[in-house]
Amino acid sequence: MTILDGKALAAKIKEETAKTTAALAAEGKRQPCLAVILVGEDPASQIYVRNKHNDCVTTGIKSLMHTLPKDITEDELLSLIDKLNADDTVDGILVQLPLPKHLNEEKVTERISVNKDVDAFSAANVGLITLGKAGFKPCTPAGIMRLLEEYGIDIKGKECVVVGRSNIVGKPMALLLLAAGGTVTVCHTKTADLSFHTKRADILIAAAGKADLIRGDMIKEGAVIVDVGMNRKDGKLCGDVNFEECVPKASYITPVPGGVGPMTRAMLLENTLTAYKFSK
Ligand code: GUN
Repeated sequence: MTILDGKALAAKIKEETAKTTAALAAEGKRQPCLAVILVGEDPASQIYVRNKHNDCVTTGIKSLMHTLPKDITEDELLSLIDKLNADDTVDGILVQLPLPKHLNEEKVTERISVNKDVDAFSAANVGLITLGKAGFKPCTPAGIMRLLEEYGIDIKGKECVVVGRSNIVGKPMALLLLAAGGTVTVCHTKTADLSFHTKRADILIAAAGKADLIRGDMIKEGAVIVDVGMNRKDGKLCGDVNFEECVPKASYITPVPGGVGPMTRAMLLENTLTAYKFSK
């Protein structure tokens, strides 16, 4: 059994990013720049945004933080996005979700220019992914693909089962696995017999947001297990997979923390560099 070490690979990707930005600086070029907008004071979002800011700072990407009060109007938020869209020195724009209820998330994320949409949440970017065309790839699924590639895990012809159908993870994950030649099944809360599907998986992606959803008797001997979950159980961070039960059967498995999470953050840096290239 091998641990899929997302933390180590993310560190390597960050080093490469830092080299790229240092080379740009040496050529006297403009620094890549990511604008992050946080509305309100959700504690988890504050931590995520702080981590993204620190990642930028340590890799030579300029981080523009916009912290807005929770009662900001939709028009005010949309005009900030318009201003950042028009600013040639801003490459990527990210609005941290969830937004307070009075703000329409779809309207807000759709306002971000397609070439600056480093989360790849817009309909245009989702369409490009669906067609297998270049563009931004959403950070979590892209990070998982990179992790599988790093460990030489072939996807072609494999039974891939994704548990979860969110727009951020489940759906785009299924599309990327399909593009890589996997035979993909997407399971969700309405799936009648979850373990019937998970037991068939050569590659299982658990992204349902439910602690301990995947038990040892639900997986196949030798399966590759990727855990996207970030749940709290008795105050402790845990994934969707019961790690202790699945380790003896898995060929590869991601830990929580230290698996998918760091890869998501690393892909945001790569997407910001891609956005920088678009701006040329
Ligand atoms: N909230 C939770 N995950 C994410 C993410 O990947 N991007 C944004 N913008 N908000 C999030």
